[in-house]
Amino acid sequence: MVPLQQQFRNQVNEFVENYPGFRQTSKDVARSIQDAIFARGESGRNVADVLHGKQIGHPLHPILTDITIGSWSLSLVFDIWSFLMRSPSSRKAADRLITLGVLSAVPTALAGITDFSAIKQDAAGHGAVHGMINTLALFFFWRSMKHRSRNYHFSGFLFSTLGLGLMTLSAWLGGELVYERRVGVSHLPEKQVADDWTPVLPDTDLMPNTPLRVEVDEYPILLYRRGNKISAITAQCSHAGGPLEKGSIKDGCVQCPWHQSVFDLTDGHVVHGPATYEQPHYLTRVVDGQIEIRRWRLGMDEYPIENSAVHSQNGQALADQA
Ligand code: FES
Repeated sequence: MVPLQQQFRNQVNEFVENYPGFRQTSKDVARSIQDAIFARGESGRNVADVLHGKQIGHPLHPILTDITIGSWSLSLVFDIWSFLMRSPSSRKAADRLITLGVLSAVPTALAGITDFSAIKQDAAGHGAVHGMINTLALFFFWRSMKHRSRNYHFSGFLFSTLGLGLMTLSAWLGGELVYERRVGVSHLPEKQVADDWTPVLPDTDLMPNTPLRVEVDEYPILLYRRGNKISAITAQCSHAGGPLEKGSIKDGCVQCPWHQSVFDLTDGHVVHGPATYEQPHYLTRVVDGQIEIRRWRLGMDEYPIENSAVHSQNGQALADQA
């Protein structure tokens, strides 16, 4: 017998794969939402950054779901207790938890929709199914809230139980998006390189204002020369693995070509999401005509690194520091 979760996984996969139109529509909707965010300029991006979770360093949506799912799940416990014990206080607690869940579902949904706007192409269909089930669950909880406010407690209980069933399916699918389809997790390469100074390129091969990707033990590094300074950050975008060397450069930052995350070239920090994880960055110097890099290490190198990640051509000051 096929386990229940495997049956559900198969059904969702079949649905998404058998209906290419649904997949394409999901991608189009995601793109439209992102266009709408970008159309509002810097303020639109700043709001989206908060909803992505840029300021907290990882996605906000899963944190908010804890409040919503926790409230609704706990309401079931109080509901059952109120029926068993005929307890008005438990019933009131259940009603309030349903309301809290509905209220918290609003920012939770906004964060989820914002993440969906920049979802990986191969996960858009599953993300859309997740959103649709959530919407239906929210509808049932909203109906439950209404019924409870009119003292129709039993029908309110039935609606919230239906909502809870849907929410459970959707929460499972949310886990599938993260752990199976790797949405919201870091896409940085796992290994680390350049623990010590490592030559990566003849100095003359790096043109000014032209991003260049080099490989160090198959690890991608983006080099960029501006004036007499050279920056180096990991070239594989932390959001979904996009090639930063193909991105656009502006004001000392690189914008990823896939979903437009913006990273500071000096220290790799996230200027704009959807990325929430910063890019590893490297000190650079030029020795004997070779550009050398060394990984910036927390606690060992100074921060901010304006004086070290970008530097004068001779590299002497950095050689001394090393
Ligand atoms: S891969 Fe998504 S922003 Fe870079």
